[in-house]
Formats: sequence, structure tokens, C-alpha cells
Amino acid sequence: MCGIIGAVAQRDITEILIEGLRRLEYRGYDSAGLTIIDDKGEFQRIRRVGKVYELSSATECKSLHGIIGIAHTRWATHGEPTEYNAHPHLSNYIAIAHNGIIENAESLRQQLIAKNYHFTSETDSEVIAHMVHDKCQQSTTLVKAVIKVLTLLQGTYGTVIIDRRQPDIIVAVRSGSPLVIGLGIGENFIASDPLALLPVTHRFIYLEEGDIAEISSRKVTIFNKQGIPVIRNTIETTLHYDAGDKGEYRHYMQKEIYQQPTAIKNTLEKRIKHEHVELSELGHEAEQLLKRVEHIQIVACGTSYNAGLVSRYWFESLIGLSCDVEIASEFRYRKPVVRKNSLFISLSQSGETADTLAALRISKNIGYLGSLAICNVSSSSLIRESDLSIITKAGVEIGVASTKAFTTQLTVLLLLVAKFSQLNNRPVSIEYEIVQALQKLPNRIEHLLSFGNVIENLAKEFSEKNHALFLGRGSHYPIAMEGALKLKEISYIHAEAYAAGELKHGPIALIDSNMPVIVIAPNNKLIEKLKSNIEEIRARGGLLYIFTDKNNEFINSDSMKIIHLPYIETLTSPIFYTIPLQLLSYYVALIKGTDVDQPRNLAKSVTVE
Ligand code: AGP
Ligand code: GLU
Repeated sequence: MCGIIGAVAQRDITEILIEGLRRLEYRGYDSAGLTIIDDKGEFQRIRRVGKVYELSSATECKSLHGIIGIAHTRWATHGEPTEYNAHPHLSNYIAIAHNGIIENAESLRQQLIAKNYHFTSETDSEVIAHMVHDKCQQSTTLVKAVIKVLTLLQGTYGTVIIDRRQPDIIVAVRSGSPLVIGLGIGENFIASDPLALLPVTHRFIYLEEGDIAEISSRKVTIFNKQGIPVIRNTIETTLHYDAGDKGEYRHYMQKEIYQQPTAIKNTLEKRIKHEHVELSELGHEAEQLLKRVEHIQIVACGTSYNAGLVSRYWFESLIGLSCDVEIASEFRYRKPVVRKNSLFISLSQSGETADTLAALRISKNIGYLGSLAICNVSSSSLIRESDLSIITKAGVEIGVASTKAFTTQLTVLLLLVAKFSQLNNRPVSIEYEIVQALQKLPNRIEHLLSFGNVIENLAKEFSEKNHALFLGRGSHYPIAMEGALKLKEISYIHAEAYAAGELKHGPIALIDSNMPVIVIAPNNKLIEKLKSNIEEIRARGGLLYIFTDKNNEFINSDSMKIIHLPYIETLTSPIFYTIPLQLLSYYVALIKGTDVDQPRNLAKSVTVE
């Protein structure tokens, strides 16, 4: 899941590698390392546990210099985050950095030990270094040795390899984990994400699955799996790295929560014209395809999955289009029965989530009408591999806990519901009401965010708790799930979400005066049912926190705190009710002093399965 960067140039590349790692840190941050070949042709390797700044401080002290090198920021899959497990790994004159998982590492390790290779880490990745070294002895070039190794590896690998006997070449292989080549003038680069290379180039070649690249400072040669040279397009990117600073905010997550009105405005921009939804980026041909759709299969992970669940209520109740939503890691290993005229929709902030990508690839061969990606990163693998795409315009999301990506996904999904309604000649009132509600949403959220201090005060009551329950009904049930996920992720409080009607089937046994129960209770047709569930909890001495609007008659008491939110249209209410839950988890995390933007054990982009 890590970030990889490599550089071969005619100038010192140390700072290029470090800056690249900083920009890749969202992919993993338990340890980092780099290896360069110095002016004497020796490896200089520095590795540190912790964030990239630990590594950068260490390199400053060592005054490194070299024109070729590779670097890595790790998210451990095999072996603890220690210095000896950090990449790059060495085998005599070979150094490698690896992203992914080698599934047959244990048997390969045994074979290598039998050949007297000595292992210094517990990682699956170290086998690659020794195998390349082993095969180099029977091969005339590094590429040839690497091709031999690939036939023996099972699993996923984005890998970069250098050989100090040939200090002018980086070999890179892509299988399951993304890699992009950056083209400079008299210098070339490789990285997991183009963002890492924007300080040095805007010209890129995206490697395809199975590609092997030989990169020198003046030349790039790409081979396919069979070792046959292939040409891949060069693209000039307009991407820019706008992580920016935190401005007046203490954390990126806080900034991103407060950016939501703008993010939604940007996502709506140019997509509503004269009260009609236009998704012109889909193209005219797509309209013919969308008209044939009788079923939707959504696949995603984590927060993106929660967005999919909300949209199921919209697709089915607003326009009668049947919709299933599934977690990508389950979908990819099931044998799904594909419904007639079904459209496969993937949802992802990053567009690089390994399970979601794998599900998309599987979907292509099992009879879907086509694939549509809803994603926040236009250069991502998911967008490049899908038939159709709609970009959420949330802007770069840095906080590991997803906030603005979620609400902009929901915005796009509601636009899509309106589009289907229009294409299938449903009553015009459906599209009209969606458009009206969406256009009012940014201002409504702006107003809501001014209540931040109410949530901040509330958070004090949660910081001592070890558990929490979140309840909702209908389209607000997935919002309860999202609230619980946020609290777990950044506050490390165990939280579960239930459909309110399900509580009595078991979880109600957990209720006592120490268990906070957060109820999402907007004023809609399910409110009376929800009130009965609330009474069931009160009758058992539960501690309730009710997020609701002024029209609902709840009475504040010691065991029932009412958090009144401003008015919101029913259609956009799930998006709106997400915001106070994001703030709640944020303020609880602040009190607990956790690492809000980079919580323990997580990574922003999950590129391993
Ligand atoms: C969200 O807060 C999480 N960090 C995580 O669940 C995330 O939504 C999930 O990994 C999916 O990522 P994606 O949207 O980039 O595919
Ligand atoms: N599986 C490798 C390890 O645990 C690579 C993990 C990663 O992609 O960061 O070191």
C-alpha cells in the first residue's frame, strides 16, 4: 500500500526522493527509507520508523549525494513497522522497493535460504531482492533477470529495482499496484502517483498491468509481460499539487470538513443548466447506454461504500431503479449473478483502492452493460479503466478520514438519479426537486457549520467513553454507519451502527447509562417509527443524543440530549446530517489527542488487498 519513488538523473536526486515521499505519505506512514548509489558506486541506505520527516532529518545529517536512487514509504503487511523491515531491501548489488503482497513469499523464502541467502527482515518483499540477485547470475541484463523472477511471483507488486553494477538504470514492474513514469530532460523518474513527481515533470507514461520498464536518464523502454517492447502513450498533465497549507485550521480534516460547501458547489458547477442535470462528460453515446440500464451494481470500500448504500435508497425510491451495493473485497471473490442490463458503478475517492479496482476488472468479463466510475482523482487507475466516469470535484483530500469526498460522492449520485429520471421520462418533478435541493445545499451546510461549537461542547461527553452506538432509519442508516466509522477511525472509540428497528433483535442488551446512543432523527416519514425505538432505549436507561430538527418534539433531559439542526430538504438530508457526525468525531479526537490526519494503522489509499 506504500508509496514508491525512483529517480535517475545527472544531478543529486536525494531531495527529489524525499519530497516525493512527502507527497506519497498518504499511502502509508509507518516507516520510510531510501537507497541511492553514491559517487563511489556504493549503496547508501537510510531507513527510519515513523513519518517521512524522521527520514528527511536523518538524510540531512548524512549529506548524501547520488544521481540514481529509490525510496519507499511503508504500510506494513508482513512484519512489524521496524527499521529492519523498512524498504528498500538489499541483496548484495541489488536494491528493491515493493508495493503489494507476495503471496508465495514463504515458500520462495525457504528456497532462497536453501541457496544460502540470508534474510534480514520479516517482509514478504525481501524475497524479490534475493531472487533478482539470484537470476542476475544467469542473465545478461537486469531486465532479463527481473522477467525471470516475475514468472515465479504470486500476488501484487509495484516494484522498483536498481543494480549498483549498472548505476544508470532503474527497472520498474507493475502488477496490481500502480506506477507512473515521469519524463524529464536528461532525467527520468518513476512513482506510485504523479503527484510525487510534479516538482520535476508534467509529462507522464502510465504503466499498464504487467508492464516492465527500463528507465535511464535519457531513455525509457517498456516491455509487456512477455518481454516484447511496447509503446505507451505520453500524456501532459494539468494536475497540480494543491495540498496547500492548513490555513486557519489545525488539521487537514477540519479544513476539509469546512470546505464542503465549496466542494459541493464545485461538483455541481456546469452540471446543472436551466434546472436540468447535464453530465456532458459522459458523452452522447453514454446516454444510449444509460437508457438501457435496468439495474445498478455499486461496489466500493469504507466510506465510499457507505455513500453507495445511501444512493440505493435514492435509486429505488425516487426512480424505481433496482440497485445493489457491495463491499469490493467480497464482490471480487464471489460469483455474482449479473442482473439483466446491469450497470457496474464503482465509487472511490482515490481511484486506486486495490479491491475496488479488482472488482472493476472482474466486472468486465461477466456481462455488465458497462462500467461507470465516480471518483475524486481524474488520473487514477479506476477512471482510466472504466468505460464512463464522473469526477467528484472535492479537491485533494489529505485527511485519512474521508469527509468532503463522501459528501461530493453523494452529490454526484443524486445528480445521476436525476439523469436517469430524465432519460427514462419519469415525472419532471423528480429532477426538479433534486436540482432545487442540491442547489440549496451548499448554503445550508455553510449555515450548519456555524454550529460547530455546539458539537465541540458535546464532544467532551464522549471522550471518556469506550463504546458508542449510532442509529438511523432508511437513507440515514448508512449515515449512522459513516458516523460510527469516523469515530472509530480517528477517535479510536469502538462504535457500531444499527438500523434503529434492528436494535431490539440483540444489540439492545448493550444499553445502559454508560452507552451513548447517537440517533440520526431528521423529520421524515420514518420519524414516528424512530421515536418508538428511542422510547425503547429510554425505558432501559440508555443515554441518548438525538440529532434532529426543530419540528420534532423531543424534550431535553439528563438522559436525552437534543441537538437541533437547521431545516434541510428531505432529499439532501443524508448529506446534511453527515456533517455534525464528522465534527463530533473530529472534536472527540482533539480531546483524546490522537493523530487526526494520519490515525494509527491506516492509510489514505489502500492499494493492497
Ligand atoms: C474513510 O474515512 C476511510 N479512510 C476508508 O474507509 C476509505 O473510504 C476506503 O479505504 C475507500 O477508499 P477510496 O474511496 O479511496 O476507494
Ligand atoms: N508487503 C510489503 C511489506 O509489508 C509492502 C507493503 C507496502 O506496500 O507498503 O513490507
